[in-house]
Amino acid sequence: MTEVWSVEPELVVPRVEKWVDKSAILKAIEDKRATQAPPSYSPQQSSGVPQVPQAPQADLLSASAVPADSSSLAASVPIDAPAMVTRYPSISTRKLSNALKILTSNKCMVAISDYDEFHKMAKRCLLTNVLGGNAQKRHRIHRDTMMENISTKFHAHIKDNPLQLVNFRKIFESELFAVSMKQAVGKVVESIYVKELRTTLSKDEIFKILVRDIMEGAIEVDWRDFFPYLRWVPNKGVEMKIQRLCTRRQAVMDALISEAKSRIALGQELNCYVDYLLSEVKSLTEQQISMLLWEPIIETSDATLVTTEWAMYELAKDPMRQDRLFQDIQSVCGSNKFTEENIAQVPYLGGVFHETLRKYSPAPIVPLRFAHEDTEIGGYFIPARSEIAINIYGCNMDKKQWENPEEWKPERFLDGQNDPADLYKTMAFGAGKRVCAGSLQASLIACTAIGRLVQEFKWNLRDGEEESVDTVGYTTHKLHPLRAIIRLRPN
Ligand code: HEM
Repeated sequence: MTEVWSVEPELVVPRVEKWVDKSAILKAIEDKRATQAPPSYSPQQSSGVPQVPQAPQADLLSASAVPADSSSLAASVPIDAPAMVTRYPSISTRKLSNALKILTSNKCMVAISDYDEFHKMAKRCLLTNVLGGNAQKRHRIHRDTMMENISTKFHAHIKDNPLQLVNFRKIFESELFAVSMKQAVGKVVESIYVKELRTTLSKDEIFKILVRDIMEGAIEVDWRDFFPYLRWVPNKGVEMKIQRLCTRRQAVMDALISEAKSRIALGQELNCYVDYLLSEVKSLTEQQISMLLWEPIIETSDATLVTTEWAMYELAKDPMRQDRLFQDIQSVCGSNKFTEENIAQVPYLGGVFHETLRKYSPAPIVPLRFAHEDTEIGGYFIPARSEIAINIYGCNMDKKQWENPEEWKPERFLDGQNDPADLYKTMAFGAGKRVCAGSLQASLIACTAIGRLVQEFKWNLRDGEEESVDTVGYTTHKLHPLRAIIRLRPN
């Protein structure tokens, strides 16, 4: 079941609460997918592979390619089903908290913008240069380097501190940030002088300002969010705190862009997003360039880490399943290193990935949508100006849909009932026209990292680790970083 509910806007509209049949939504999405082109890049495509569908270009570029018109789909699926598809044009606008409004420079990024011309143009840029199939092919070298670096760091840990726990997050997060910076500005910036802050920042400080501080700011609660009719009451404390985060982010982004401009002026162009935005997209303002460039940096650095860390936690907790994955990998790779090409050949890995997304959906609630016109979902009337939240966590913990949903069980995606190639099964990446643009990159990085780390090391939890499973943050971060005991597997 997909739980969809509408939250009363400004106390004008009565609360509407309802359940919408998820299987019918999925069927509607399936029907749509059948008419959509396959992704242009998947390292190897075969049945049972966690293939990664991208939003089709046509959908992104033309308003006429809006999801099927209601009348035609209404005929093929129950009218209460396609909350995310047929009614999409009515509910594709985002509703933001005060903190998010400031942090996103009033919706100046793909993930948060309304579904308008700016959104389409910005998403096209992001897919063309960073996240689409061909772009990911061009950025492959960065992901390969990331895997080598991670492996080297874990090996070094075993050599230098064989008896100590390894902090998974510390290693993974830093390498993931390196990938995001290479894609965005063409290199890992070890340090940079930031004029506005009158200081030189290290790589870790840059990460803090561009990623960590903003993720914390995103969940800052302004009580006026809950009482919109009191929004005129000043709440300077929160506003100033968030504004300060934005000012620091802006200062760092300015420094990065200015460095890129100097490099380009010397004729040293690189295959990276900043070069593309500066040279190809003439209509953008400086502020827009800065925000659009920052977007994949923060998005790359977060949800993929969340997913990979939870997967490694579950595997470390469960030696039998870890061993099964290891055996499957070995039968495919032998003495070769696990790479992106092997993802498709190890269906159990697809099960591990999807089951982790199901149990620990990084975005447990799809960022709020706003009905900008009267619409109807599930036979219920949704008045204009209602907010709509789609509760992915609720769906994925629904006992009627999933047997023992609290259990982490990758096999459930291999029993023939759930297709491991179906990214929509858990809806962790959302669905419809605003489906996650980074699902390809996230799948490639998470699956390759899990495969490689299980191939090379045996993972065990330290005593007490099982109890520390709380979550925190805008995405469902594990409250405490995963600390595990790792041992080398024999070659
Ligand atoms: C496991 C990792 C990830 C998960 C679970 C995830 C999940 C989501 C979800 C739930 C949405 C909202 C979809 C909707 O409103 O229907 C979304 C949107 C988006 N995500 Fe992701 N995401 C992940 C990784 C990434 C990465 C790595 C990037 C980019 C580097 C990215 C970029 C985006 C963008 C640009 C959007 C907005 C798409 C639009 O509004 O058209 N995501 N993601």
